[in-house]
Amino acid sequence: MARINDNYLKLQAGYLFPEISRRISEFTQANPKASVIRLGIGDVTKPLVPAVLKAFHEGVDEMAEAATFHGYGPEQGYDWLSQIIIDKAYKPLGVDLKTSEVFISDGSKCDSANILDIFDLSNKVAIGDPVYPVYNDTNVMVGRSGQMNDKGHYAGLVYMPCTEENGFNPVFPTEKVDLIYLCFPNNPTGTVATKDQLKAWVDYAIKTDAVILFDAAYEAFITEADIPHSIYEIEGAKQCAIEFRSFSKTAGFTGVRCGLTVVPEELLGTTADGKKYSFNKLWNRRQCTKFNGVAYPVQKAAAAVYSDEGWAQVKEIIDYYMENAQVIREGLSAAGIECFGGVNAPYIWLKTPEGMTSWDFFDKLLNECFVVGTPGSGFGPSGEGYFRLSAFGERENVETAVQRIKEKWGK
Ligand code: MLT
Repeated sequence: MARINDNYLKLQAGYLFPEISRRISEFTQANPKASVIRLGIGDVTKPLVPAVLKAFHEGVDEMAEAATFHGYGPEQGYDWLSQIIIDKAYKPLGVDLKTSEVFISDGSKCDSANILDIFDLSNKVAIGDPVYPVYNDTNVMVGRSGQMNDKGHYAGLVYMPCTEENGFNPVFPTEKVDLIYLCFPNNPTGTVATKDQLKAWVDYAIKTDAVILFDAAYEAFITEADIPHSIYEIEGAKQCAIEFRSFSKTAGFTGVRCGLTVVPEELLGTTADGKKYSFNKLWNRRQCTKFNGVAYPVQKAAAAVYSDEGWAQVKEIIDYYMENAQVIREGLSAAGIECFGGVNAPYIWLKTPEGMTSWDFFDKLLNECFVVGTPGSGFGPSGEGYFRLSAFGERENVETAVQRIKEKWGK
């Protein structure tokens, strides 16, 4: 009989978001009349914008004619899309990239998991706590960890607590690590790193010969002018960082699937016999073997996000979600609930009222207010006592949710 990958058994029973869905469906089956407002998983509610939809349709129509049909595309994505991304999303930041450094994919969640293929198992990994669960769980899955301890940390992984005291910015690991996950704007805490803070990370990575895996999936939600959108805005970052970006939240692609990963050619690792080797070459090799590229119409649609018309339409929706964030943050803060984030990110990280545990608050909120959020402890032990509300939703629902919470727990 085939042996299973026992590392999976080290994980908690279910991935966080399916567990939340399970509890919601249990509740809605028992309470079919309850109008449940979902501010849990960060999933967009607004449809694709017209410019994107038009390009998407055109892409599909091209597939209908032999003369314009597209079979396998490049595993790295079409050059024209990479060039548009470089011109529109990176050049304005003062960042120049080659198309060979940009890899189009089906999303940043998959890429931030798949990237582990190109790193030896012996690498020591540092992740935040709380953290987007994918970074933690995928390292457990590949066998980089031992068992989980009572606290909820896995042996062999290095955790960087992100607490109110440190402004939810991870502090440097106290031991030598080789891979450092950073996510800014942060999921789940909604906080951001300033240029100085990011520079400190880049300097640290260069000094300690570490690679930063920088998740910038929420960069489009930054509203403050001086906050960096890309780690490559920091000098030296191309020598030490891989960056992930996503069309999911930026342009409503959660169900369409498109993202990208930047692996600079300057970024080198070492071979077993101590020679330097390019991670770009390895990622390219990995993608060519394991991935067949993103659907042509999806890449057409993604390119349209960066047309003048497309960007204006997309930006309007981003602003709408960020106004939701403001409604949540200001509404709850005014009612005496301590809130963080929500200024440069679509997530509000709040302190649970009355010192409740995160899951107790989840259950109470669902059962008594019919509102769904995400328990902070689901993102790691340092998230205990916190709760994440997503700003992705319709305004009316967001206002109703805030009202219900205020009525129940407002001071
Ligand atoms: C979240 O709610 O944290 C995200 O939607 C999850 C994801 O993007 O995979």
